[in-house]
Amino acid sequence: MQLRVSTGGAGNRVNKSGVELSMADEATPQDHVTAFWSMVAPDYEAHRGNVPSRGSALYGRWAEILAQNLGPAPSNVLDLATGTGFIALILAELGHRVTAIDLSAEMLAQALKAAGGRPDVRFELGDAVEPAMPAGSFDAVVNRHLLWTLREPVHAMSKWRDLLRPSGVLLCFDGFWFGSAPSDEEPEPFRRHYTTSTRSALPFMHSTSVEPIIAAMEEAGFAHVSWRDLPELTDYSAGTTPYLVRGVK
Ligand SMILES: C[S@@+](CC[C@H](N)C(=O)[O-])C[C@H]1O[C@@H](n2cnc3c(N)ncnc32)[C@H](O)[C@@H]1O
Repeated sequence: MQLRVSTGGAGNRVNKSGVELSMADEATPQDHVTAFWSMVAPDYEAHRGNVPSRGSALYGRWAEILAQNLGPAPSNVLDLATGTGFIALILAELGHRVTAIDLSAEMLAQALKAAGGRPDVRFELGDAVEPAMPAGSFDAVVNRHLLWTLREPVHAMSKWRDLLRPSGVLLCFDGFWFGSAPSDEEPEPFRRHYTTSTRSALPFMHSTSVEPIIAAMEEAGFAHVSWRDLPELTDYSAGTTPYLVRGVK
């Protein structure tokens, strides 16, 4: 993942979700998270390290890993915090029926553009912590680069478990991007939104091991929780080795 952003010092701008980009004191941690990603959405894919470009070898390896970890297509898959739809669109290309949610309308606008109207992926505004879909409606729930910026992980994961059919799988892809403490190297406007108070609501942001993630997944009721590093998915411009944590309902 890449933190460089080309948006300079934002003034008081309001995004399509009504979130003021120069945040008021009463803004919640999630308001800050959503405002940051909304601000960078138009340039998200332009920065190396955020998403491998379609057709690249790395893109192909992401498709292989997803295919290996999911049942045969078509199945119903939910992509949480889809951003510009990187995972959602690979899943659709693999033949799955995809629902993808994000809290940033700006990210979803980019995802819709990238989807070019294909009918097998539905993008919706929604909170990954409280997804509003019917229980038991998915064969798999997937997310990439969400865990580090996720509030209330045990509560969220138990909601994800509810959404799965029996034996459905949860796949969480992420990396340890931030070390154990904030760094002076982090650029604006990232620091303006990922404040001390925002970070205190994101239990995995400064995690450097999968242990707390595995513990949260087990506390949420997942069985057969396992993890592995994915060096084959390393994008050297992103600066860390991705990992996958997997659980079964
Ligand atoms: C680092 S980006 C990852 C986007 C995409 N999954 C990818 O792999 O490129 C993080 C995304 O999470 C979204 N997000 C953060 N918290 C969320 C929440 N609680 N519910 C839904 N989306 C959320 C942000 O809006 C942003 O699009």
